Amino acid sequence: MLTYRQGILHLDGRPVPDLAAGLPTPFYAYSLRLVQQRAAAFRQAFPDALVAFALKANRFAPLLHALARAGLGADVVSLGEWRAARAAGFPPARIVVNGNAKSDALLRASIAAGAHSLNLDAVEEIPRIVAAARAVGRPARVALRLNPGLDMHTHPHLQVAAPGSHFGIPPAQWVDAARAVQQARELHLVGLHFHAGSQLTAAQDWHALGRAVREAVQRLQAAGVTVDTVNWGGGLGVTYTDAPDPTPQDLAAVLGPYLEGLGVQGQVFEPGRWLVARAGVLVVRVVQVKHAWGRRFVAVDGGMNALLRPALYGARHRVWPVRAGEPRQPATVVGPNCESADVLAPEVALPADLAPGDLLAVLDAGAYGASMANGYNARPLPREVVVL
Ligand SMILES: Cc1ncc(COP(=O)(O)O)c(C=O)c1O
Repeated sequence: MLTYRQGILHLDGRPVPDLAAGLPTPFYAYSLRLVQQRAAAFRQAFPDALVAFALKANRFAPLLHALARAGLGADVVSLGEWRAARAAGFPPARIVVNGNAKSDALLRASIAAGAHSLNLDAVEEIPRIVAAARAVGRPARVALRLNPGLDMHTHPHLQVAAPGSHFGIPPAQWVDAARAVQQARELHLVGLHFHAGSQLTAAQDWHALGRAVREAVQRLQAAGVTVDTVNWGGGLGVTYTDAPDPTPQDLAAVLGPYLEGLGVQGQVFEPGRWLVARAGVLVVRVVQVKHAWGRRFVAVDGGMNALLRPALYGARHRVWPVRAGEPRQPATVVGPNCESADVLAPEVALPADLAPGDLLAVLDAGAYGASMANGYNARPLPREVVVL
């Protein structure tokens, strides 16, 4: 989808400078086609599952509309995401509600509308969900978010099911939590939820999750709990390089056997990153090129305010010049914000003659890019545009 034609970078056939002509930099541009392809691939790998797109990865309305039209569901963690999902056309029965601090307004809105499930993050949340269900006069469909205590091969900030994590219910409380939900007239237990972390690319991690899920289902069934649905959460990663990404088919091959013979009726997935990361580029403009300490610093007009991932996780994104040029020389691409962490990309190869006014494309920025953008240093939020 990103190609050079006559030395100019194109996104799905559109010259990036044309996009920049109508928009202030920095801005995000997305390939709708790629999002649609990835959505179809995920659904094909799990034809009977609810594939609920995690809006935290990207909540740009045109992408949400396309995902809703493709038959996906949505995973939301706030009233704002709930509203965005509803406005994009996701039916309530295809929306799952996550979060370790769901607001009462989110609880009430989602229960009243008949959300697919609310993932219970703590036994302490039960009275709040009961109260919300009573307030709206409708029972709440609840899944238990179990934390099996798994160390995954990903950045520590992206581990959410490790021992000691503040997400999910620890093993010692699983059975009591299930009984408490079963005993509440206002709650209907629909199954178990897991989310092992984000940016998981190693098959061994998915095997570890599969084993943990199987053991959890068996343990709860032995305690007399019926488990209708398993929600595997999100987490499928992308390589952020030229190397191919793991696929939903790979995931299906790993996870399938772990549910065999357990009598589980339904499955849910909550992918975010895998569906949209590759579809987005962040386009920034060079403001200044500085030679100092034996290095070339290319300062651009969008940094950790527009794309937080490098500063937050040490994430590496490829950076391509919009106008191709040789020879290439090393450059460190830095943002405009007053933080030493505001480095978009350390040591990338960029044209030697790069000058103020030139455009750069930061690749694979479609997930956790615009959705995490912020107004630090009083900068405006980046605009977003979809290429059809
Ligand atoms: C509960 C839950 N589900 C789904 C996701 C989406 O994860 P990813 O974008 O890695 O697929 C997240 C993000 O961390 C999450 O916290």
